[in-house]
Amino acid sequence: DSPENASLRTPIVAVLGHVDHGKTSLLDQIRGSAVIEGEAGAITQHIGATAVPLDVISAIAGDLVDPDDFDLPGLLFIDTPGHHSFTTLRSRGGNLADIAILVVDVNDGFQPQTIEALDILQRSQTPFIVAANKIDTVPGWNPTDDAPIKPTYDEQSDRVRGDLDERLYEIIGELSDEGFSADLYWRVQHFQRNIGVVPVSAMTGEGVPDLLTVMMGLSQRYMKEEMEIDVAGPGVGTVLEVKEEKGFGTTVDIVLYDGTIRTDDTIVVGGTTEPIVTDVRALLQPRPLAEIRTESRFEQVEQVDAAAGIKVAAPDLDDAMAGAPVRVVRDRALDDVIEEVEAELAEIAVDTDEQGVVVKADTLGSLEAMADALGEAEIPIVRAEVGDVAPRDVSVASTADEHKQRVILGFNVDVLDDAEERAEIDDVRVFTDDVIYQLVEGYEDFVEELER
Ligand code: GTP
Ligand code: MG
Repeated sequence: DSPENASLRTPIVAVLGHVDHGKTSLLDQIRGSAVIEGEAGAITQHIGATAVPLDVISAIAGDLVDPDDFDLPGLLFIDTPGHHSFTTLRSRGGNLADIAILVVDVNDGFQPQTIEALDILQRSQTPFIVAANKIDTVPGWNPTDDAPIKPTYDEQSDRVRGDLDERLYEIIGELSDEGFSADLYWRVQHFQRNIGVVPVSAMTGEGVPDLLTVMMGLSQRYMKEEMEIDVAGPGVGTVLEVKEEKGFGTTVDIVLYDGTIRTDDTIVVGGTTEPIVTDVRALLQPRPLAEIRTESRFEQVEQVDAAAGIKVAAPDLDDAMAGAPVRVVRDRALDDVIEEVEAELAEIAVDTDEQGVVVKADTLGSLEAMADALGEAEIPIVRAEVGDVAPRDVSVASTADEHKQRVILGFNVDVLDDAEERAEIDDVRVFTDDVIYQLVEGYEDFVEELER
């Protein structure tokens, strides 16, 4: 990194969207193009994330990006299978996703998780653009691999162009129905006021140069100040996932958004009952260009700088919580750091009521999003926790006075076998879903049935 970049970190870009709309393919396309551009070595593999440096972006974007116009080091993309709620992970130190790409399949249009992602982006006030994906599937499409959208669009027949326009305007209309003013990205002047829609194909790479250009421009223009960090300072991050790893026991996958983390650093991690204080045993990075999510062999590194995704191996991580803060202690007083972590956890804790339903969710972020959604629907919550539905949740639910509150709502979690049996015996209803508003609607339908 050049010295003038030393204190500007990589913006974190969350890629969100409905199942199968092409989030992973889009990242694969960006990674693949990077290989083709002969820059493979420049792409750092991360846990659940792909870092694309500025020179690679500029190689892919061609004429659209002049690296001299930018001083941010690149973009760190985060794929979100199973983590579709983590843009809500706000903590005092920062907001995990700085910007986002909402991927929408031009054939499929808006779907439940698209709307949910929009809700989350709106709530967390995360700036975003829409990638209208799979334009190559418009019947009669004549592809030019990796081309910017303008020339390839002009190449199409009138009929094909008309067909694509219709689908794009449908997406713009759907955005407008959800309260967002949007337009094709080249007509957007103020990306903070209007949402830019970029037509792309993750299959042919068409429009990808435009997408990268717009993301770079957005971050440079609106994020630069927020990207100023103390690179040498003690690391600050968020837990993405808590995972068993062969030979390492329980590990946490984290996104580091500030400072550095080193092996032997003492860290404080938010846990289900109390902050965990432990020493980093190993920092694990997937090997270069391995398929990230299936990667099982890691390279051990001594130090990682923000922004980055990294797997941390350390003792005592069994009770670590997805969505919780992680802080490196370094040369500060341990108690102060524990206090910081506690304060952050308190900020994302959910207020509960005397009576209400039990809520379980996979991460703190999704728990927060669930609590928001239930609050809006005026549904009280008696207990809200991260984790699978367990027998003790059934016990809590079974003490409710009202039938409609003998309920557990589980978002993106499993129901443990003994909890299921227990629920049947105790006449507690368990609802699970991986779309928040479907979960809420399912419960509301149930209440309506009861009150009929
Ligand atoms: P989840 O992770 O399950 O939410 O899905 P995803 O959004 O990551 O979608 P993924 O990238 O796995 O793509 C789903 C399917 O769509 C795959 O079969 C892809 O090959 C296909 N696909 C993705 N993008 C395109 C595209 O631009 N054009 C065409 N023709 N197919 C695409
Ligand atoms: Mg995927």
